[in-house]
Amino acid sequence: MSIMITGSGGQLGLAFQQADLQSGKIPLPISQLDVTSLADVRQVIEAFSPSLVINCAGYTKVDQAENEPDLAWRVNAVGPRNMAIATAERAIPLVHISTDYVFDGRAERPYHEFDSTGPLSVYGRSKLAGEHAVVTHNPRHYIVRTAWLYHHEPGQSSNFPLTMLRLAVHGQVRVVSDQYGSPTYAPHLVEAVKALVGTGAFGTYHLAGSGGTSWYELTRRLYAHMDLAVTVTPVATTEFIRPAKRPRYSILRTIQSPEITLPPWEEGLLQFTARLKNEG
Ligand SMILES: NC(=O)c1ccc[n+]([C@@H]2O[C@H](COP(=O)([O-])OP(=O)(O)OC[C@H]3O[C@@H](n4cnc5c(N)ncnc54)[C@H](OP(=O)(O)O)[C@@H]3O)[C@@H](O)[C@H]2O)c1
Repeated sequence: MSIMITGSGGQLGLAFQQADLQSGKIPLPISQLDVTSLADVRQVIEAFSPSLVINCAGYTKVDQAENEPDLAWRVNAVGPRNMAIATAERAIPLVHISTDYVFDGRAERPYHEFDSTGPLSVYGRSKLAGEHAVVTHNPRHYIVRTAWLYHHEPGQSSNFPLTMLRLAVHGQVRVVSDQYGSPTYAPHLVEAVKALVGTGAFGTYHLAGSGGTSWYELTRRLYAHMDLAVTVTPVATTEFIRPAKRPRYSILRTIQSPEITLPPWEEGLLQFTARLKNEG
């Protein structure tokens, strides 16, 4: 059994590489596989003949996507389509990672898998199109919607907690306090995906840190755990204009997999900060 990981140079791809998957791993960073080429995708699937593919490749620059939509669509929609076609041709199951940004954020309670989508941004729309392509082309799919993802590896693409730690040198930060989501520690997501794949029950799943919070509260807790005296000022989204609209509220919960949930987001943050402290 061998597991192919596409987009393996990103933070989630790296978390899968570091995990014990009880199988051989075939990590493919973008330099070894560009998922936007169907011919290349077919070629690597044929060459390695994996028993499972985990697609961690993604265009994740949410604001920049508004200015380069074609690239976002190619990576987030055409890429998963290619992965789904090539894996389906060999009856290989495909795990595809999607996002809470497929929702419009107008809910008053956590979103489950059967709630209607309504993305607000190019990023969200391209990710939703990627989901549809996977459903269309490979019935052996696990679409995993996650949210507010972070890992402890500073070498990887930046994430919110690592950015806030860099900004701590200023002694004060302003953070949006009226957007709510489910912070997800990448190693926790990896464990949940492993469990999900073990069920053999294909479908769409919400797997994110349990519970939810605001960016403001997440930042306050982060600094407290790291013993950093930083003044955190709450600001409204309207004071922080950015190119892409974000859902105001995108806390995720699952109806599909009540037996597979992630630890509370607070637990993820504790493990993340403990790890950073240990590493000095
Ligand atoms: N980060 C979050 O908060 C979050 C939340 C919900 C869902 N997700 C989803 O989770 C997945 C993994 O996200 P992440 O946080 O690990 O993002 P990431 O760190 O940006 O990793 C994405 C990886 O995909 C690679 N990539 C970009 N275009 C590619 C292409 N054409 N072919 C192959 N690889 C390509 C990137 O390479 P380069 O860096 O060289 O471009 C990067 O290594 C994505 O699908 C994302 O949409 C992320």
